[in-house]
Amino acid sequence: MGDFHAEMTEGYGFDGPTIGLGRPFVDPAAPVTDVEVRIPLGLLNRHGLIAGATGTGKTKTLQLLAEQIAAAGTPVFAADMKGDLAGIGAPGEANDRVTARNTELAHAWTPGAASVELLSLSGDTGVPLRATVASFGPILLSKVLSLNETQESSLALVFRYCDDRKLPLLELEDLRTVLAYLAGPGKDELEMLGGLSKATVGVIQRKVTELEADGGDAFFGEPELDLRDLLRTTPGGRGVISVLHLVDVAARPALFSTFLMWVLAELFETLPEVGDPDKPTLVFFLDEAHLLFADATKAFRDSVAQTVRLIRSKGVGVFFVTQLPTDLPDEVLAQLGHRVQHAVRAFTPKDAKALRQVVQTYPVTDHYALDETLQSLGVGEALVTALNPRGVPTPVCATRIYPPASRMGPLTPEERAAMIALSSLRPRYAMPVDRESAMEILTAKLNDDREREEAAREAARPAPRREPARRPKSDDDLLGGIGDLVNSRVAQQVTREVVRGLFGLLKRRR
Ligand SMILES: Nc1ncnc2c1ncn2[C@@H]1O[C@H](COP(=O)(O)OP(=O)(O)O)[C@@H](O)[C@H]1O
Ligand SMILES: [Mg+2]
Repeated sequence: MGDFHAEMTEGYGFDGPTIGLGRPFVDPAAPVTDVEVRIPLGLLNRHGLIAGATGTGKTKTLQLLAEQIAAAGTPVFAADMKGDLAGIGAPGEANDRVTARNTELAHAWTPGAASVELLSLSGDTGVPLRATVASFGPILLSKVLSLNETQESSLALVFRYCDDRKLPLLELEDLRTVLAYLAGPGKDELEMLGGLSKATVGVIQRKVTELEADGGDAFFGEPELDLRDLLRTTPGGRGVISVLHLVDVAARPALFSTFLMWVLAELFETLPEVGDPDKPTLVFFLDEAHLLFADATKAFRDSVAQTVRLIRSKGVGVFFVTQLPTDLPDEVLAQLGHRVQHAVRAFTPKDAKALRQVVQTYPVTDHYALDETLQSLGVGEALVTALNPRGVPTPVCATRIYPPASRMGPLTPEERAAMIALSSLRPRYAMPVDRESAMEILTAKLNDDREREEAAREAARPAPRREPARRPKSDDDLLGGIGDLVNSRVAQQVTREVVRGLFGLLKRRR
């Protein structure tokens, strides 16, 4: 066995700004207090994984990283699944356990709070975030609606159709109206689209209605989140931490997890290339990441993997937080340079298999029997390997993690309300805006059609003729007519010209 202390000193002794995690140990009773296990700030865009069984300390590790990243001047976006992360906006408490841990780790700890912006999808527990259906795109929306691959490609055709016909898809009712149109009065157009069956349109229509009934309509629409609002720093130069409260939509995991992917895709599109920066532009934490991939289609998994790969060059670091690394697709896992693996529980044969897989992803080490170490780690301890400033993995070590400087618990409802009331984003996002979109346009078109039909019937009647009849339109005229009508109505609107589905976005850039 090599000399653990010397190896740690060498492996973690690099220069430059870093994020400190804690102290390495082989013997749990004797952590090495003159070595700090840490991650270089400039390499956070090489992405990371925080994994471990429930209650092992993942969210606190996330909090510890996030508060230091923000203190270094980089904004952070984090999903708060259980409501306990918002405590990052309040100072921590020096209770006995915290003090004992700081003492044994020789860690200079002072309580501190980060600048936090509280966001939510429902609008009840934070500034409401919204996205339009069009910018969400067919792949992410298919995930939300739990569509299969056939239905997903049908939905993509419907998006293309709306794009061609300049029918803005802003809210869910727009999509529902278009689907109803294609299944009914517009069925000739449906046939022209090819590969789109009436039955499939019916299924999608039903699922959209369900999602609306479930409250999904609250967050589709405008004003859409301006991604620059996630990239703010305080006048003092600290990064703002945007905490997205998801407790109130917990029953809709597909909705919020895809929303997070949408944010990433938008960031990718919005941000300039920065190569390898001194510090990241933004670090994004995705808690309960397994929800993102449960029952995901291949197209969805592929687009996540691609987004994660490409967003690195925009200076964005993504940290996935989940129970087991095997919750993530291999293509995603392979891109995560920093790993903080908390304890793994292996009760069932399936667990044991997962544990073996976890062990295989670590570099070899003389100091640990990794499968045993992983099962014996205590709360707030993890097996760590990160990338050093040269991009080479640091030595694997069991690490006792520092307590966060901020509060390890939720905000009170009063604290939360006060924070929301003070938000500078609230005035811009609080009220939804409803401008003319596919629903209004199609409804107007159907009314026009009805009038035209009536006029035609009138004209066909022999006498008495009151005024010159409008020429009855042939089917071809009608089809062309929709385009004309819609074009003229939409011409003045500032609409997104292209349906920027995530997939389309990534295809364009390849
Ligand atoms: N670094 C740490 N320092 C001190 N206590 C910790 C630390 N990490 C976790 N804990 C304790 O463990 C509890 C559970 O941690 P948490 O992060 O919520 O677990 P998980 O997210 O994995 O379910 C915390 O409430 C806290 O009491
Ligand atoms: Mg947690």
